[in-house]
Amino acid sequence: MYRPSIFITGASRGIGLAIARKFYEEDFEVAICSRNPENLDAAREEMPGLHTFVCDISDKTDVKICAAKVRDLFGSLDVLVNNGGTFLPGKLHEEPDEVFERLMATNLNSAYYFTKVLLPPMIARGRGTIFNICSVASIKAYANGGSYGVSKYALLGFSKNLREELKPHHIRVVSVLPGAVITDSWASSGLPEERFIPPEDIASLVWNAYSLSPRTVVEDIVVRPALGDI
Ligand SMILES: NC(=O)c1ccc[n+]([C@@H]2O[C@H](COP(=O)([O-])OP(=O)(O)OC[C@H]3O[C@@H](n4cnc5c(N)ncnc54)[C@H](OP(=O)(O)O)[C@@H]3O)[C@@H](O)[C@H]2O)c1
Repeated sequence: MYRPSIFITGASRGIGLAIARKFYEEDFEVAICSRNPENLDAAREEMPGLHTFVCDISDKTDVKICAAKVRDLFGSLDVLVNNGGTFLPGKLHEEPDEVFERLMATNLNSAYYFTKVLLPPMIARGRGTIFNICSVASIKAYANGGSYGVSKYALLGFSKNLREELKPHHIRVVSVLPGAVITDSWASSGLPEERFIPPEDIASLVWNAYSLSPRTVVEDIVVRPALGDI
């Protein structure tokens, strides 16, 4: 029997892992990537049959190699989730060039290169859904947003332009814009868990948007902690 497939970048922890768990429960073939092999091993132990790839998504060559392996594994994906990203607070006029370069490579370029390798079989089949995990920082500027904010505004631009391009090919592109989600990114915040969105809620939103009729696309999902932004 045909089992649909999903690939999620940067998914050994946090939001990506929650999405992997949700689609695994729904009997998808699930593949993920990240850098640390131990976290990938732990995810495979939890979800037998999970496909894992060690990849530094900030490295273009690594991304192209990993994407080609995913394409060889599944052919045409049903779902691609450009989730992998990293957060470093800072100010554009103070931060070293390397912060800008690292955040753009990890948060934007990775989505661009993964998509370019994985898209042709989806176009050939004429179906598929691509989720880009943006942020409320894609639509709201913060004084300490620095290059993170720049990368997330750009990722939303990527997502919107890609949607227009892919409409004739029946591929849906969904931008997800979460506020603060309780993951390792917030480990040192000292704020109570109640102040954050649980990652499982993002996974449910992604699943619900995917599950709608292929005639419908949820274009932008903006979701915040009920008590507001942090
Ligand atoms: N948490 C939030 O409040 C929040 C809000 C809005 C948007 N987002 C976005 O949601 C996405 C996921 O965030 P998260 O909070 O779930 O992150 P997280 O808990 O810090 O987890 C990040 C995941 O990405 C992987 N990763 C990080 N850098 C990588 C790299 N260079 N190459 C490959 N894998 C890498 C990590 O594994 P390794 O370290 O082993 O590589 C880990 O599996 C990001 O794009 C983030 O910007 C998060």
